[in-house]
Amino acid sequence: MNSIGKPMQDAMNDQINKEFFSSYLYLSMAAYFEDKNLMGFAHWMQLQADEEREHAMKFYSFILDRGGRVLLKAIDAPATDWKSNLEVAEQVAEHEANVTNSINALYELAVQEKDYPAQALLQWFITEQVEEEKNAAELVAKLRLIEERGTAVLMLDHRLSKRKGEEEEGEDEE
Ligand SMILES: [Fe+2]
Ligand SMILES: [Fe+2]
Repeated sequence: MNSIGKPMQDAMNDQINKEFFSSYLYLSMAAYFEDKNLMGFAHWMQLQADEEREHAMKFYSFILDRGGRVLLKAIDAPATDWKSNLEVAEQVAEHEANVTNSINALYELAVQEKDYPAQALLQWFITEQVEEEKNAAELVAKLRLIEERGTAVLMLDHRLSKRKGEEEEGEDEE
């Protein structure tokens, strides 16, 4: 098997950093919500943070499986405070759109480099980003609709508390 090329290795190492930053950002959001006693929102964000770590690990394993080197970099500090629940959701949506752009750029590089295994891996991420952007947009839309009204926020909090982790998914339907 051809080992991973240097440009792809470098770009994927950067992507590992972005996925860990995503995880850090969502964990910071989870802490923010837990501080406000919105335990459902906090739960949802914690699962989101776990997923981002798994994304980083997919690139990590791929680089190593292809005989490359994983070179971890410093992770930027995420924001710690937001003005409203809606502002948090809007930042998630904006962040996911940026991640989609970097996944698309990685795919373009994989095409340029004729790196077929990387293209296969990145197809998974392209599909995943559709889901990620959809989830973020849904949260933004719901929060716009309820305009931070207490009872409605608590109902959404309850709903978000039902989100399941990857390994529990499919065990039974909500
Ligand atoms: Fe991700
Ligand atoms: Fe994501």
